Amino acid sequence: MSAEARLREAIAAHGRSLFERGYSVGSAGNISARLEDGFLITPTNSCLGRLDPARISKLDAEYRHVAGDKPSKEVFMHRAMLATRPEAGAVVHLHSTHATAIACLAAPGEAAPIPPLTPYFVMRIGRALPVVPYYRPGDAAMEPAIAVASRAARAVLLANHGPVVSGKSLDDAVYAAEELEEAARLALLLHGRPARELSPAQVEDLLTTFG
Ligand code: 13P
Repeated sequence: MSAEARLREAIAAHGRSLFERGYSVGSAGNISARLEDGFLITPTNSCLGRLDPARISKLDAEYRHVAGDKPSKEVFMHRAMLATRPEAGAVVHLHSTHATAIACLAAPGEAAPIPPLTPYFVMRIGRALPVVPYYRPGDAAMEPAIAVASRAARAVLLANHGPVVSGKSLDDAVYAAEELEEAARLALLLHGRPARELSPAQVEDLLTTFG
């Protein structure tokens, strides 16, 4: 099986798993991954739970549609992160409930709307989770805003919309998106209670140990 065929299968398998566990509903969310000669991205209006690997859209290195179904309208969102972070092999965008709730509460421009409560949030997302102002889904104007915000952050929250998360590989990006959703759920569960956060020294230790 070619690397592209394996990646198509992996996107469909992750999409199904995310959908079945409620990280995505209806036709919400999209996934992109870097290929040697371009990118794969889930088709617009597709359900992540029922992706056909052969129909996943293919873009060339300039993000032009070259094969498969019509690509997600969020190509600009994915391009913003993939182009800004050359080490990113994949980007996952979800409307997962708790991360989206934080995206509705946090002020645009906020740098860290979720506190460092657990190690895996710090290890998978890092210190920064900038909140990008609201843009209509598919609006190309979000690209520069996401590009600037993602220079120093692996993930961003789009105000009133949801998370956009990158990872070195597709697995990494999906795991980080899942960890972000869990961290958002914890933050909301603990809201108003005197929860103990990881200290700056503990955060630093995690980042230097796990990169
Ligand atoms: P697409 O169906 O075009 O991928 O858009 C879904 C979505 O999540 C919009 O933000």
